[in-house]
Amino acid sequence: NSWWINKMRTRQRLEYSNKLILAPMVRVGTLPMRLLALEMGADIVYTEELIDLKLIKSIRRPNHALGTVDFVDPSDGTVVFRTCAQETSQLVLQMGTSDAERALAVGKLLQRDISGLDINMGCPKEFSIKGGMGAALLAEPDKAAQILSTLCSNLEIPVTCKIRILPDVADTIALVQKLAATGIAAIGIHARTRDERPQHQPHPDVLREVAQSVTIPVIANGGSRHMHCYDDLLKFQLECGAASVMVARAAQLNVSIFRRDGLLPMDEIITKYLRLCVDYDNAPHNAKYCVQSILRELQETPRGKLFLQCQTLQQICEIWQLGDYCRRRQLELKEQGNVGRAEVQP
Ligand code: FNR
Repeated sequence: NSWWINKMRTRQRLEYSNKLILAPMVRVGTLPMRLLALEMGADIVYTEELIDLKLIKSIRRPNHALGTVDFVDPSDGTVVFRTCAQETSQLVLQMGTSDAERALAVGKLLQRDISGLDINMGCPKEFSIKGGMGAALLAEPDKAAQILSTLCSNLEIPVTCKIRILPDVADTIALVQKLAATGIAAIGIHARTRDERPQHQPHPDVLREVAQSVTIPVIANGGSRHMHCYDDLLKFQLECGAASVMVARAAQLNVSIFRRDGLLPMDEIITKYLRLCVDYDNAPHNAKYCVQSILRELQETPRGKLFLQCQTLQQICEIWQLGDYCRRRQLELKEQGNVGRAEVQP
């Protein structure tokens, strides 16, 4: 294994300043959307949150037919995480964990295929909190710091975490300073508290104070309800006094928000996205979910209703005139004995 450790050491280390970043999003941040975000101008893309217990069981399997590396659950053959060389230098994997040693074992398994490892410390969902993961770690700063310092000391790639602000600014600063002291390369901060929801205004003023209190890059997140174009991303970053900016919802709706030359029309985005789904044999339910979140209220139109009935990638592709493209590729993959299967949710 030493040859790839050496290779990794000579690889350029991921930098987190002045970057436009695709935020981690469950079900959205799979390979096709990440590749499209990069094509549109994102500098760094995060995977959806993947749970350590799921990853630790997985087996690394290069998929020659697709040109990908798959991490496969050996119990049922499902692909837990699929990546390819085209994204490696800009890819951060986000992990859900509550255990330093387990997180490290996963980090070692994955570090050859990613450029950064991020720990989710902001997710308020019951699943995360019950497992001591996500926002539960905000209430356990010693444990959070122990996880990060274990990873920073033992991995070749940079480690980061993504948190939410605390109700009190001084407490937030103390927490961020404690986490920064573990050796993390940057910190993503969602400018809302654990109990605040998307309809609540974010707090860029708090991020500004926090960013001034540490030397590591702060990645601002949480303002994308009010972001409608590329310039809005930079405006939010500036407002927060942050080194970089990370976008979720606005990119879920139209990933060309990363495009300096302006938004592309919805149908062009869907077509580009579906082509990538076909190229990388993405699970149909995952493709459907992402297209649904682009279409939104247009699901009520006749075309939208037809789309909602689709169950296969082929059927979805027909609607966007990619039927032949999909058929050809699926035939080609069949001939090459593609072993890929649907991605599963953590
Ligand atoms: C999220 N978010 C999220 N956060 C995280 O740390 N890990 C994750 O896996 C997810 N998953 C996820 C899925 C979807 C569909 C959405 C909309 C959001 C939260 C996200 O990364 C971000 O912090 C918030 O959405 C706020 O940023 P925006 O949406 O204002 O840009």
